[in-house]
Amino acid sequence: MKTTLVTDIALLRHAIAQARRSGRTIGLVPTMGALHAGHLSLIKAARAETDFVVVSIFVNPTQFGPKEDFNRYPRPLERDLELCGQAGADLVFHPQPEVMYPSDYRTFVEVTGLQDVLCGASRPGHFRGVATVVLKLLNLVQPDRAYFGQKDAQQVRIVQQMVRDLNVPVEIRVCPIVREADGLALSSRNEYLEAEERRQATVLHRALTKAQRRIEAGEHDAAVVRQVMVEQIASVPGAVLDYAAVVDADSLQALDRIDAERPVLLALAVRFGSTRLIDNLLIR
Ligand code: PAJ
Repeated sequence: MKTTLVTDIALLRHAIAQARRSGRTIGLVPTMGALHAGHLSLIKAARAETDFVVVSIFVNPTQFGPKEDFNRYPRPLERDLELCGQAGADLVFHPQPEVMYPSDYRTFVEVTGLQDVLCGASRPGHFRGVATVVLKLLNLVQPDRAYFGQKDAQQVRIVQQMVRDLNVPVEIRVCPIVREADGLALSSRNEYLEAEERRQATVLHRALTKAQRRIEAGEHDAAVVRQVMVEQIASVPGAVLDYAAVVDADSLQALDRIDAERPVLLALAVRFGSTRLIDNLLIR
């Protein structure tokens, strides 16, 4: 299938209006490109559930800190367009940064409380940038449904909260984490890993599943479960823990006790050299 590439806002709005006029429902899959099977699972879900599928490919500068990998982030556009076509996208929106953020840009969205914990603690301003660009994309495309991966669990919570708080008329769909055969969650940042780091990176998923088994075996003390993850990560020489957290899946606040009533999110961020990887497991 041939995907239309659109880089400016007027043409995007025109194409969306045309799809709407013909009575089609619209699905949006926001991405930063360097697409892999995780992204493609979202595009395929959108394809299955909506009539006109828009994929945005935009490496959003406002969600990167000054010392982060904005410049280094991979941008294989030709390949991404090919993959979007194969997965069934109708339109790819790929704006330049000046299109999204002209020099007089001033407005930002903050989802207080949820934005400062977990990844927000080590990436100040990150979720402000995410919430802002996601709201802009939702306003530009006005989709019936927008698709996000559980891989970024905190991002999902923040987007859900923003949509609820600001009355954005869209249904947020959350798709499961796609993993490599050895458990490593697919991520565009896995490309940064050296061969040895790539082997070590399986420790994230191992730590999460080990902690999950402890909960399933009846452990209620969140500190004990957290320690299981900390020790697993510490057993790998190249792995530097950013955080290991056992949090309430709704509030993202650290738990003392784990009980059957409330969903628990086990979340990890680990550095291998300059590469920071995240993973999580939702336990209902
Ligand atoms: P990006 O990292 O490109 O991810 C785009 C979408 O793909 C996100 O919803 C993410 O959760 C999902 N995704 C990534 N890896 C996945 C995996 N292994 N399995 C399932 N889904 C996966 O997340 C962003 O971009 C940006 O923050 C964005 C929302 C586009 C705003 O700039």
